[in-house]
Amino acid sequence: MKIDKIISLSEKPKLYEKGTSFMWTDEHISKQLLQIHLNPDTDLASRKKSTIEKTVEWILATQLSFEKINILDLGCGPGLYTEIFARNGHKVTGIDISKNSIDYATKSAEEKGLNIDYQMGSYLDIDLGKEKYDLIILIYADLGALLPTEREALLVKIYSALKKGGIFIFDVLKDKGLNEKISPKSWEASKVGFWRDTPYLVLSESFLYDKEKVILFQHSIIDHSEDIKIYRFWTHFFSQQDITDILKQQNFRNIEFREDILPEGDMWNGNNVIFTKCEK
Ligand SMILES: C[S@@+](CC[C@H](N)C(=O)[O-])C[C@H]1O[C@@H](n2cnc3c(N)ncnc32)[C@H](O)[C@@H]1O
Repeated sequence: MKIDKIISLSEKPKLYEKGTSFMWTDEHISKQLLQIHLNPDTDLASRKKSTIEKTVEWILATQLSFEKINILDLGCGPGLYTEIFARNGHKVTGIDISKNSIDYATKSAEEKGLNIDYQMGSYLDIDLGKEKYDLIILIYADLGALLPTEREALLVKIYSALKKGGIFIFDVLKDKGLNEKISPKSWEASKVGFWRDTPYLVLSESFLYDKEKVILFQHSIIDHSEDIKIYRFWTHFFSQQDITDILKQQNFRNIEFREDILPEGDMWNGNNVIFTKCEK
């Protein structure tokens, strides 16, 4: 393995330069992720169970009527939110790109006698339909993980999939103290672990793109194979004004913000996160 190649990993990439690999669908990593989603006491992959319950309580309280509604959960993971909605009698659809998560969610719903429509695939590709849903959610800062072109395309689809007066709820990371949100360089060598079931070395680093309010979190995996696998997470941070501008371009209205839904915690919690509710 060329040392030059390893050293080049420390060079700041051009904004939005793609990595070589995608984490959510990797066979080994997605199994690890499923276990992490299902841990009720961590805020990794999914938030803690108590936080999810509080979030769903708020989401359902935003609904003006007490009728049963049609809900779409984008990036539903193993169904931690969808199952609570379904238990409340709502008609629920969940979409996720991870086969492991969708397989788990489908089995779990069957065992619990919950009728939830799960679909495996990318919400960027799947047809979300027209005027179908009263409520669409996208939770855990996932909108901010998309590139701006993908974000715009998804918002167009969400708008079109909502019924008139339907509501879209999502959360994003707030644009405060970005310098403190950069993680220091680190490495980990492991015989088996999160990234691989064979020996590997992971080099982790992050880069701030101040003007664009983006941090790239990058993890490079060196293992027995010749090439280095690079996982890049382009993470966007927003102000309430940024969100307003983005949503208004897509004709969303009645935009409201909440920064007090989540308990304090890491940068993915507390008032580091802006929850947004908007209407078609
Ligand atoms: C941070 S997790 C959040 C999961 C869930 N919303 C929650 O809060 O418990 C992001 C989820 O989005 C899924 N995902 C990532 N990209 C996706 C895409 N393009 N289409 C559908 N699902 C995607 C992942 O598989 C993962 O389950």
